[in-house]
Amino acid sequence: MKTSSRFDDIAPYEFTESAIILAARLGLKPDQILKLDLNENLFGASPLALQALANLSCAHFYSDADCSELRNALSDFTGAPAETILIGNGADELIDLTANVMLDAGDSVIICPPAFSMYSVCTSLHQGRIIEVPRLSDFQLDMASISTVVEQEHPKMIYITSPNNPDGCLINPKDIDTLLNLPILVVLDEAYIEFSEGGGTFGQQNSRIREVIERKNLAVLRTFSKWAGLAGLRIGYGAFPDWLVPVLWKVKLPYNINAAAEAAALASLRDLDILAERISIIQNERKRMIDALARLPYILPYSSQANFLLCRIIGRSAADLFQILLKKGILIRYFGMPPLTEYIRISIGRPQDNDRLLQALEEEA
Ligand SMILES: Cc1ncc(COP(=O)(O)O)c(C=O)c1O
Repeated sequence: MKTSSRFDDIAPYEFTESAIILAARLGLKPDQILKLDLNENLFGASPLALQALANLSCAHFYSDADCSELRNALSDFTGAPAETILIGNGADELIDLTANVMLDAGDSVIICPPAFSMYSVCTSLHQGRIIEVPRLSDFQLDMASISTVVEQEHPKMIYITSPNNPDGCLINPKDIDTLLNLPILVVLDEAYIEFSEGGGTFGQQNSRIREVIERKNLAVLRTFSKWAGLAGLRIGYGAFPDWLVPVLWKVKLPYNINAAAEAAALASLRDLDILAERISIIQNERKRMIDALARLPYILPYSSQANFLLCRIIGRSAADLFQILLKKGILIRYFGMPPLTEYIRISIGRPQDNDRLLQALEEEA
């Protein structure tokens, strides 16, 4: 027996070790591990979300297949009409679904590295051809090269991220306008928009999600994983143009959202004050960490509008630093491949988490 050969050349996704496995390996307790590698929210889920999980009474029933209550609540939260919104098992599922419904074998997709890895994983899984247009040295999009590729290669879509993972920079809004005038579906991933500044609470004014209804070529992806601290429950959402919505509904598996995730997401949307307060602490900590890290002789932190910082390691090995921190029970993101070989990424945690990381880094200075 043999599986379809179309997966033969696709590298498997590399998972990072969970805190529990890592703790066991290092002989530590799980709560001694400081997990700063995956841009999670160390404040955890909101009090109302935790209460909703503790009181969950409907686990024996299938969840609401069309998630109408959640889509309506998200419409109030984002300003995007409920009929444009689809809920996913994490934004990851929606990245996969867009590739699934958009691509025929050989269709091309623009990805702008450094970028979140799922765009290329899902493009390859659905037999798409990846065209890489690397970001410029300031991590903004290379608009001239993107326009040339669109003109010459007629790609079906482009995945862009604002703020971008791994550098945290917001895309210049004018560049998004220019992209929207090209004949290509723009999938704009706003997984971290709630941490951006200058756009009001939850970065609402920085988001383009309200424009989806008036455009034919814009899809916007969001998630509860980061700002709402629900990464482990796997729940994200997106707003999609009218011609795409019915096809996504056809292809998405029924009951893709479990009842616990739906209840916690709804409760988070009723707990916005405390979640906004936590975001504001993370924003302040982000500034404090940039200043503190910049004082260390071997670290160059980049400015960021997300809940993480990309840092260049100067005059020593990023791989060694990763191992040294790991031995102290601190897990950061080490990329280990060009162009990010000498870079690390750290999540911004609570003040006490950031203090522990700083202390460990200062001991190495
Ligand atoms: C840019 C970006 N998009 C999407 C995701 C995945 O989000 P979710 O947890 O909702 O699948 C991540 C996770 O790190 C991310 O960095």
